[in-house]
Amino acid sequence: MEFDRVQTVASLSFEKETIPEEFIRPEKEQPARTASHGPVPEIPAIDLGDPDQENVVRLIAEASKEWGIFQVVNHGIPSDLITKLQDVGKKFFELPQEEKELIARPRDSKSIEGYGSKLQNNPQAKKSWVDHLFHRIWPPPSINYKFWPNNPPSYREVNEEYAKYMREVADKLLTALSLGLGLEGHALKEGAGGEEIEFMLKINYYPPCPRPDLALGVVAHTDLSALTILVPNEVPGLQIFKDENWIEAKYIPNALIIHIGDQIEILSNGKYKAVLHRTTVAKDKARMSWPVFLESPGIPRWISRLGNPIGEIHLKVSSIKESRSDDKRFSIFTGTKTLHLRAGS
Ligand code: SIN
Ligand code: FE2
Repeated sequence: MEFDRVQTVASLSFEKETIPEEFIRPEKEQPARTASHGPVPEIPAIDLGDPDQENVVRLIAEASKEWGIFQVVNHGIPSDLITKLQDVGKKFFELPQEEKELIARPRDSKSIEGYGSKLQNNPQAKKSWVDHLFHRIWPPPSINYKFWPNNPPSYREVNEEYAKYMREVADKLLTALSLGLGLEGHALKEGAGGEEIEFMLKINYYPPCPRPDLALGVVAHTDLSALTILVPNEVPGLQIFKDENWIEAKYIPNALIIHIGDQIEILSNGKYKAVLHRTTVAKDKARMSWPVFLESPGIPRWISRLGNPIGEIHLKVSSIKESRSDDKRFSIFTGTKTLHLRAGS
């Protein structure tokens, strides 16, 4: 058992009004020194329920090229289900430490599933002010209920219900993203693994931090996923790097935040951009978020645990060839692509 969780560190730090050295970011990363000044644009918000679906496709494609991130409303997930998802996740993180450790990721595990804190592969690397829980929610053969909390008792039912809706939203988004490239609607889903696409849920728990000016929740990175579909709690902190500025994401209540990940960037031959983002933490509130990563089963997860920064990696991936505008056929080839991993996660 390990007890060096950030939640434990946080509870000890408040008495001292400081944080341990290993969490203090270098100046070039400190949120207080790198915040934008002056007016900044807001990340695009898109109404998925718009009867003009061509317009929806156009807006999603534009946002994915220009920003790599957008929020969607009228996405079909009932708001009370989102509230329940947040409630059961919060209850889990509020359990006594020993109880959470019951579903901790075993140290020698090849999978990232389980409760834990970010691995430090490089002892010099700074630590992130966050603990997490990872478990797959779809497809059924990939699910390992060993890593789903038993407490609160409704955890499983709520998460299974969420997974059901999540698949529908994912299908809508992947279809729009494909059409936005001039491809047939099923192209990107097929390219990313079809029915075998794995839905990995992560819960991030960022404890209150006595020095939010010096620490980061998650260091700047792009997601390794195809697509990430996220709900946050009410505490702001997600920031996006755009036009040389860190921009704070302004949440719309009950909207889903969609990140383009590395796999869609590759599949779209770079037309859609994986968004560079990071998270800050708050002084007197716990920040939480629930990203669901849609991932090709073929991409080895260990890549994400090499630590940061790790530079270039040569990966064998499937990619969709450039489509011709008069011809909506597409073909998939497998080749070697260079992925610039800016950081772990
Ligand atoms: C992440 O990028 O891993 C976390 C995003 C968030 O907490 O909003
Ligand atoms: Fe991320």
